[in-house]
Amino acid sequence: MDKILIAGGKRLQGEIVISGAKNAALPIIAASLLTGEEVRLLNVPRLNDISTMCRLMERLGAKIISDGERLSIKNKEVASFEASYDVVKTMRASVLVLGPLIARFGEARISLPGGCAIGARPINLHLMALEKMGAEIRVEHGYVVARAGRLKGARIYLDFPTVTGTENLIMAATIADGTTLIENAACEPEVVDLANLLTGMGARIRGAGSDLIVIEGVDSLKGTEYRIMPDRIEAGTYIVASAITGGDLFLRGCPARYLDAVIIKLREAGVDIAEDGGGLRVRRPKKLKSIDIKTMTYPGFPTDMQAQMMALMTVSSGISIITETIFEKRFSHVAELRRLGADIKIEGNSAMVSGVEALSGANVMASDLRASASLVLAGLRAEGETVISRVYHLDRGYERMAEKLTGVGAKIDRVRGSQ
Ligand code: UD1
Repeated sequence: MDKILIAGGKRLQGEIVISGAKNAALPIIAASLLTGEEVRLLNVPRLNDISTMCRLMERLGAKIISDGERLSIKNKEVASFEASYDVVKTMRASVLVLGPLIARFGEARISLPGGCAIGARPINLHLMALEKMGAEIRVEHGYVVARAGRLKGARIYLDFPTVTGTENLIMAATIADGTTLIENAACEPEVVDLANLLTGMGARIRGAGSDLIVIEGVDSLKGTEYRIMPDRIEAGTYIVASAITGGDLFLRGCPARYLDAVIIKLREAGVDIAEDGGGLRVRRPKKLKSIDIKTMTYPGFPTDMQAQMMALMTVSSGISIITETIFEKRFSHVAELRRLGADIKIEGNSAMVSGVEALSGANVMASDLRASASLVLAGLRAEGETVISRVYHLDRGYERMAEKLTGVGAKIDRVRGSQ
């Protein structure tokens, strides 16, 4: 398994180009199942989660041509209706094929996602809503088996504004018979990106980005070409990289308008952030102040930035309370940050971070995608060498992270194949 070695203490300076958004690309690739025509995608990030999604699509019968950041997908015929256990267990977002499969082919067999590093993460809301639209759903041998004739539009209230749940439903509703209303829908920008793609394919969707989405079903969808939005979480991670190293980074293509909560909080902490033409310039804070954070659904502070902000707060000048409200077990980075010298206490779903003068390099282990990113950030700041193992988590969601950071002055090496 690969490891990452970081010689900390280097000030980052220069430009990083932000890649396409993983969490927009995944549902968008799944949405291509809704038509037999070609869907061409641009700005697709080259990540392991995207390769996993493409492998799943090929098993379902998709013909995929990939050329750098371009992807062409054609789902003329379907060879299988199954997302098997081995795929779903490596990537929970595989459940995104459920909505399109049941809507277009009337059949789907999806392995139930088990617990994962950040909590239980059930899909009960996805299933409840599809049942309301007329699907018959059974759970057998660890699989959700769904069958339906043409789905029927319905009025659906989500108990929690689940992101992939909202996406599954929007996709299913595009070619259902009649109108579907999704109340308490997720408002995340990636939901809007998916809705924009679907509109380009001929779907009729209103309200994406708000908590009430209305979809009028059409008979069929057609092919299109679509450019995936930039990744707000990748951008947020590099904003913190600049702040934590006292650096000066320009993040080209950074989607500032989707990062309001993160930018406001970082400015409160003293970080100098300026919008500048095609991106954001992030400069060292004179003094890094402690701030409190509570994760929320969009437009609140994203849970996917919680671990990175915690890394920053470990070297702030006071005490910061970080509260996680979306996932119940999302503090696996805490024990590893402590190994680097951080002072963090956990009580329930809150972490109390007392800023320390300095972090010191150590051996640490990555446990999930964003936890891994927080260890890289802390390692960039720490004195001496930090060795991060299990870096495959990073490859799932950050395109060429080590290269991008090396390009702006970090001393970061990837060691292949060692334990
Ligand atoms: C998506 C993102 C992930 C992000 C998360 C929250 C993708 C591919 N992944 O994950 O990066 O961290 O949103 O912003 O877009 N829940 C239920 N029942 C359900 C569905 C969800 O109880 O049927 C609960 C979950 O357990 C969790 C909360 O709702 O506590 C949020 O989950 P959800 O919004 O569904 O996250 P994902 O869509 O899995």
